[in-house]
Amino acid sequence: MAKKLYHGAAYYPELWPEAIIEEDIKFMLEAGINVVRMGEFAWSTLEKEEGSIDLSFFVNVIKRLNEHGIETVMCTPTPTPPIWLTHDHPERMHVNQEGHVMVHGSRQHICTNNPVFREKAAIITEEIAKAIGNLQGVIAWQLDNEFKCHVNECFCDTCKTLWHQWLEERYGTIDVLNEAWGTDIWSQYYQRFGQIPQPKAAPFLHNSSLTTMYQIFSYEKIAEFADEQAEIIRHYSNAPITHNSTTFFHVDNERLFENLDFASFDTYAEKSNFASYLFNCDLWRNLKVGKDFWVMETSPSHAASLASHSASHPNGYLKAEAVASYALGGEAFCYWLWRQQRTGCEQPHGSVLSAWGKPTVGFENVKEVEVARKEIESMILSTRPLQAEVAITYSDIARAFFKTEPHRELVYRDLMIKFYENILSNGYHRDLITENASLQGYKLLFTPFLPNVSTTYLERAKRFVEEGGVWVIGPLTGGRTEHHTIHRDAGLGELEEFAGIETLFTYPMDGTESVGEFLGIEAPLSLWSAIFEPKDANVVGSIKEGISTGKAFITEQRRGKGKIVMLGSLPVGEEGDKLLSTLINHYAEEANVRSHTDVSQGTIVAPREKNGELVWVVVNMDGNGGTVTLQMNGVDGITGEPIPKGPIEIGAFQYRIIHFRG
Ligand code: GAL
Repeated sequence: MAKKLYHGAAYYPELWPEAIIEEDIKFMLEAGINVVRMGEFAWSTLEKEEGSIDLSFFVNVIKRLNEHGIETVMCTPTPTPPIWLTHDHPERMHVNQEGHVMVHGSRQHICTNNPVFREKAAIITEEIAKAIGNLQGVIAWQLDNEFKCHVNECFCDTCKTLWHQWLEERYGTIDVLNEAWGTDIWSQYYQRFGQIPQPKAAPFLHNSSLTTMYQIFSYEKIAEFADEQAEIIRHYSNAPITHNSTTFFHVDNERLFENLDFASFDTYAEKSNFASYLFNCDLWRNLKVGKDFWVMETSPSHAASLASHSASHPNGYLKAEAVASYALGGEAFCYWLWRQQRTGCEQPHGSVLSAWGKPTVGFENVKEVEVARKEIESMILSTRPLQAEVAITYSDIARAFFKTEPHRELVYRDLMIKFYENILSNGYHRDLITENASLQGYKLLFTPFLPNVSTTYLERAKRFVEEGGVWVIGPLTGGRTEHHTIHRDAGLGELEEFAGIETLFTYPMDGTESVGEFLGIEAPLSLWSAIFEPKDANVVGSIKEGISTGKAFITEQRRGKGKIVMLGSLPVGEEGDKLLSTLINHYAEEANVRSHTDVSQGTIVAPREKNGELVWVVVNMDGNGGTVTLQMNGVDGITGEPIPKGPIEIGAFQYRIIHFRG
């Protein structure tokens, strides 16, 4: 359990004259910064010449900060390897799919699988861990920075060798691979693993199996690098280890965090996209179950580089973001960055202090966050986020499938956020859970956009249904095997028997003027859709207009104490949202979902609990204020005043804490 709520910033003292540190500390104390993250780009400061490593600068800064009660998250500096490691070594560099070899500069320019890089990375990490691991004030580690943020799979020769080894480990014999990938197609048959290409530029698209497996291989290799680095640190330090990730980067977050101690994410979502911010909180809370997550980076005002910028936050939004994340399971809310950069490619980026040492446009908002942090700290520390009853499966493996097979430019993350928004805006408390997460405690499970439903996932979900859960499957779920091929026995494979249906056909609905109906609501249908013939199942959604008029696109089937619902298509537009809302509410009621409120759109209720006592944190995110109805009498967590049951109001970007006793 957290001991304090952190309020932090990314700090780069190595870029400034030493005298500035005192000035920074003075302002940090004024802004309420109690933790900094340092060192992730400082390799050349620490090891100017190969082999001469000097940690004294950071040791000194950590001590000075700690004297003022400011703690440190120390990073490993591997995203920016110094020139002595890269110069004249094109074979060590990252190679993109077009075969372009990265030059030194920017960041992530080296191949993280290169053995020389790995050796040097291990040395610097070990030296940092030795010198800093047990210093007072060092409370955590961050590995590297945003793995695979600027680059995706690497296509260098080192990766080629590792790819062949990886395939051999996965498939065992070349015959198994040929069969799984169906390599008789276009004469792709391989005689040996060593012949299998990396999916570089080719005249037309590669085999889906090749493209998807190369992504999964790359996911695995970056996670192995993280494992290796974490292992080194653990020899010298007990401080917990994390990494700052997102759902944009080319990583499998579930695998990446498997051997790390807590989860962190970075986000620069604008206010208009607050749903994406909440999506992150609901996902990262569940990446390391029971552990608080960190918002490791967010801007106090706007994100920017030499080439672009986001919209600036309106006053007050930062506080709403901070309170929402603390309430939804966050232990820390940290800015990128403390002092505006004077050089480099991110000079225009929002910061807490300007390059000339003055408060920025974000400074007062940062101070508001600090007031809120203090106000809610003891309540947050004495309660835990309530487990949701509604779960939605999130999968970075599915993301790889969509990258290989995007149909018409489908982006997994966008599809998921839109789907999630339907659940959010209907007032359900929700968890985004990973593919291998336990389903214990949930009542309603959504599995949208998961092309491959693995046997283990299916087994777990079947048990969930047998024991009384309602499982809604689709759209675009189940149509592919683990090798990214089509099933031979049935359109959606093993799933169909359990769902009591047969898939008649699958085809793109867009442009077919198809209309579907569910519980009296009609809406246009879209995406690549599956049309069902019921076997044991009941048809509850049918197609009213279009190519498949009269056929089923939503079916339900009782199994054990629960129910399995197939959703074969995506209803779209305003009517589509209405249809989906009806479907969500209908099955939430059947599943007896209780953690649900009538909160108005743009405002959230984050429920927390302590020994059966319920606490709501209500936050307005959209700046329009909102309302929610209390079903029983409560007590205002800030003023201590009783609040009678009935509707209450929340002002623009404001928050309220409500305790319910008994
Ligand atoms: C993050 C990165 C930071 C900084 C920031 C700017 O992706 O980790 O180093 O570049 O973006 O928004």
